[in-house]
Amino acid sequence: MMELKTPAKNRGFYVRMKLLRKHGRPLQQEKTHLCFRYYKWLLWLSLSLYIISSFFITHKPIPLSKTILSKSNTVVSRALFESTNFTTFLQQPKNKQDLLKDLKIYVYDLPSQYNTDWLANERCSNHLFASEVAIHRALSNSDDIRTFDPYEADFFFVPVYVSCNFSTVNGFPAIGHARSLLSSAVHFISSNYPFWNRSQGYDHVFVASHDYGACFHAMEQRAIKEGIPKFLKRSIILQTFGLQHRHPCQDVENVVIPPYISPESVRKTLNETSLAGHRGIFVFFRGKMEMHPKNISGRFYSKKVRTVIWRKFKGNRRFYLQRHRLAGFQSEILRSVFCLCPLGWAPWSPRLVESVALGCVPVIIADSIRLPFPSAVPWPEISLTVAEKDVEKLGMILEQVEATNLSTIQRKLWDPEVRRALLFHDRIQEGDATWQVLYSLLQKLDRSHRSVRALSK
Ligand SMILES: *[C@@H]1O[C@H](CO)[C@@H](O)[C@H](O)[C@H]1NC(C)=O
Ligand SMILES: *[C@@H]1O[C@H](CO)[C@@H](O)[C@H](O)[C@H]1NC(C)=O
Ligand SMILES: *[C@@H]1O[C@H](CO)[C@@H](O)[C@H](O)[C@H]1NC(C)=O
Ligand SMILES: *[C@@H]1O[C@H](CO)[C@@H](O)[C@H](O)[C@H]1NC(C)=O
Ligand SMILES: *[C@@H]1O[C@H](CO)[C@@H](O)[C@H](O)[C@H]1NC(C)=O
Ligand SMILES: *[C@@H]1O[C@H](CO)[C@@H](O)[C@H](O)[C@H]1NC(C)=O
Repeated sequence: MMELKTPAKNRGFYVRMKLLRKHGRPLQQEKTHLCFRYYKWLLWLSLSLYIISSFFITHKPIPLSKTILSKSNTVVSRALFESTNFTTFLQQPKNKQDLLKDLKIYVYDLPSQYNTDWLANERCSNHLFASEVAIHRALSNSDDIRTFDPYEADFFFVPVYVSCNFSTVNGFPAIGHARSLLSSAVHFISSNYPFWNRSQGYDHVFVASHDYGACFHAMEQRAIKEGIPKFLKRSIILQTFGLQHRHPCQDVENVVIPPYISPESVRKTLNETSLAGHRGIFVFFRGKMEMHPKNISGRFYSKKVRTVIWRKFKGNRRFYLQRHRLAGFQSEILRSVFCLCPLGWAPWSPRLVESVALGCVPVIIADSIRLPFPSAVPWPEISLTVAEKDVEKLGMILEQVEATNLSTIQRKLWDPEVRRALLFHDRIQEGDATWQVLYSLLQKLDRSHRSVRALSK
């Protein structure tokens, strides 16, 4: 176990001093701590191998593998803690915080032109793509997850803000420069630090919060044509874009993250809107609904789904449909029972987060969408999914739910843990969106140079 210490003398000293300083632990305990890390990783690996092999070897489900597989492969580590008998040996974590206590992230200190310069525009840290800013901020503010010693890091976070170059014409972010900005950042870190070349970026983490994630284009066909930049293909991408099937723009190791909604705005809405126990709007939607959507290189906005909704339900008194922006729309969500979340150009939309945060049942109309953090947010229990082709039947479907299981769904939706999981905060809160990102990274420890090296010794 002593071998775990790094060959670099300075580093070992640094780490030890840091541990001593931070936890005030005697050296003996530090060794135990390292052993713990080592065993945790070994167990994690063996369990993964077990799951993978049992999956390929037999289709007759063994009870254990079945439980774990059905919970999806993102919960291997939690399954480890919950379902093996090594648990007692490892001391079961008392709370969620303990789960992450060994994870270490190094945040590159890039020149400000790659990130903070963009904050001169206040919208940069508040609009729907701002998770790139929020995650950077939360990691930078973290005392225990962030490490200043890159040799101690499991993952390397590369903070580049690509969605803050707002067009003066339409106010949307222009992301034409995203590829060159990222490429330049990668050039910077690969020439100034040894870690990129060591793994070709395998343990490096980027945020791609725009419509089609790592393809960096708002239009699907162009996005697919341009593809994921070659230099990002080995890295881990945190992206809002997610589909259940293969797509060239998610053909990379990735974690689906929620779009950014300011927790402050949610808090304000909750404080200021008097609910009086009453949600008076049955179905709510506010946003772009074109009467005659244009054929833009073979595609129609929202695959015409929003147009169908508008045509079919605009005269229905139970549907409150609005086509124009309004500053106070969050209080409308808070006063609604069902909130429609149809696709736009991309399948995801900020409405998913706003609806959950304000307790309006999301009605997801975006075939095959892959939603963020399924191990923390039980989407099938707190939302409804309506197929794009069934959108004309919305009225009937929602009335059926109202008559049967609506209150069950609402009760599960109003769980503070569910709502917390989709919001990013300036400082990581247990169970919040940045916490969930880290928890997802924990499942990818096989990419960590440190952990793999520790195991091979
Ligand atoms: C774990 O081990 C204990 C004895 O140490 C045993 O009683 C228990 O049944 C085991 N649990 C599982 C899930 O194997
Ligand atoms: C911002 O976007 C515009 C339009 O796409 C582009 O010409 C300009 O180079 C971008 N600015 C930077 C600093 O990348
Ligand atoms: C990493 O590799 C590139 C390309 O081979 C090289 O130019 C660069 O100097 C290397 N970086 C370091 C820190 O050695
Ligand atoms: C809540 O709203 C009231 C006014 O409606 C205001 O006085 C109070 O400061 C607000 N509280 C918070 C925590 O924002
Ligand atoms: C949309 O436009 C493309 C050309 O850009 C054309 O090939 C296609 O037939 C059009 N589709 C419809 C449904 O009008
Ligand atoms: C509620 O009922 C609808 C059908 O009426 C069903 O599709 C949906 O899965 C149910 N949701 C829950 C959480 O029970």
